[in-house]
This record gives sequence, structure tokens and C-alpha cells, in this order.
Amino acid sequence: MSSRRRRLRVHVLEDARTAAQAAARRVAGVLLERQACNVPTVLGLATGATMIGVYGELVRMHRQDGLSFAGVTGFNLDEYWPMSPDDPRSYHRTMHELLWDHVDVDPARVHLPDGTLPLEELDAQCLAYERAIRRAGAIDHFLLGIGRTGHIGFNEPGSGAGTRTRLVRLDARTLADNARLAPPGTELPEHAITMGVGTILEARQITLLALGAHKADIVARALEGPVNDEVAASFLQVHDGVTVLLDRDAAARLSPDTLGSAG
Ligand code: GLP
Repeated sequence: MSSRRRRLRVHVLEDARTAAQAAARRVAGVLLERQACNVPTVLGLATGATMIGVYGELVRMHRQDGLSFAGVTGFNLDEYWPMSPDDPRSYHRTMHELLWDHVDVDPARVHLPDGTLPLEELDAQCLAYERAIRRAGAIDHFLLGIGRTGHIGFNEPGSGAGTRTRLVRLDARTLADNARLAPPGTELPEHAITMGVGTILEARQITLLALGAHKADIVARALEGPVNDEVAASFLQVHDGVTVLLDRDAAARLSPDTLGSAG
């Protein structure tokens, strides 16, 4: 196995629920560790079907175990553009419904790209988003999913390691996949604002969660294939702090080498 790949810690869990719970425990672990030292936590966060179980488990931990989100700052990866925050398709609304409305976070510390701005104001907003992350002191832990095009955030094929927060055009496969999460009869915008690969790679620790047989091919390409902009998630291979959590179906196409080292 190449030294490059050895940096990734891969864990294959029994099923989707167990894998989502493991991802939630990693987030909670970072929060608790930092709370014990009295330092705030900056989280990078993803949306998508994969995250539903993770946020459900974090809400459960808040209610039953007293896990606190006071002092947590959250930066989400992306938002559709144009998109109003109260639109049922929006990632603003999704994050509030799945997580933020149910925990003790300070609403002023919840950040997502603003999908309401006109085109001419987007560049300035993207720069401001990057600045806000830096001002918060960098992302301590990033929770990532992966799209079937290999995207992390909405970094579609062609997104290099140096990309930053910007407006992107969505791949037709992504639009078709994500349409399943949108209310019936509605269409998704063809554009989104996303953190870049470079923005994501600056996080101290990253957990990538992938669930289901439909992710098996892209998971294998991302973890074992060449590191290049054809699969944005492949750049995770060059980050030292990445943990990959998979259910058995998503791990189905990994080589014996990777699986042999998996926990
Ligand atoms: C979405 C989001 C990503 C997410 C990915 C996987 O489009 N922009 O952040 O990780 O695609 O989505 P899902 O979990 O629904 O498969």
C-alpha cells in the first residue's frame, strides 16, 4: 500500500445506522474534548441523506446525554443558488430542521453560504465566508459526505486542491441524485455556492461518511484511485487527519489491502 493511502483510517461498520452513530460519536468526542479544555469548537458540516442519521444521533445525545452545542460554531459546506433560506429544498432549512433547532447552539454562530444574493455580490460573499472561517480560528472537525461524482461539498469533477468558496454549476448526475431529497414536483437550481477543496483540506480533522451500495464505486475511486480533480474526494488521501466511516455496502469495492487495514 502506498504511504499516501496509509494516512486514511478506514472503518467498515455493520450497517448504515451504526456508521452514522459512529460519525456522531466522533463529532461529540471533539466537542467534549474541547469543552474539557474550555475552548470553543468550529465544525464543518454537510447535508444530504447520509447526514440525517448523524444529526438525529447528535440531537439524541443532546437530549439524553446532555451534549451541549453552546460555544459551537458551524460552517456548512454549501447552499443552492439561487435559494431562499426558508425554501424546503434549502440547506439552511435542512440544517435547522435536522440539527440546529433542537440543540443549544447560539444562532449567531450558525453559518451557511447565502443563496439569496444577486450574482454580482457572490464573489464578495465567498471571500467573506472564507474570512469568517479564518476568524473563527479554522475548522476543528469536518463532517463530509461524498456524491456519486466524487464531490465533497459541491466540488464537482474539475475542482482542484486549490479551489476556494465559489459559485459552481452542478453536474447533471448530482441534480438527478439530489432531486430525490427535494419535494415532489420541484426542481433544483443548477448552481450552488460551495466551499472549495482547498477550504475543506484546511480542517484539522475530517470524517468522511458514505453509506449504501450506490456509493461503493466512487468510494473505491476516492480512496484508492489517483489523486486528481476528476474525483475531488481523492484529495482527502493527502490529508493527515482523515477518518473514513463506511457501511458494508459502501465498502464493497475496496481492495483487500484497504479492507485489511480497516477497523
Ligand atoms: C450533496 C452535498 C454533499 C453531500 C453529497 C452526498 O449534494 N452537497 O455535501 O455529501 O451530496 O449526498 P447524499 O448524502 O444525499 O448521498
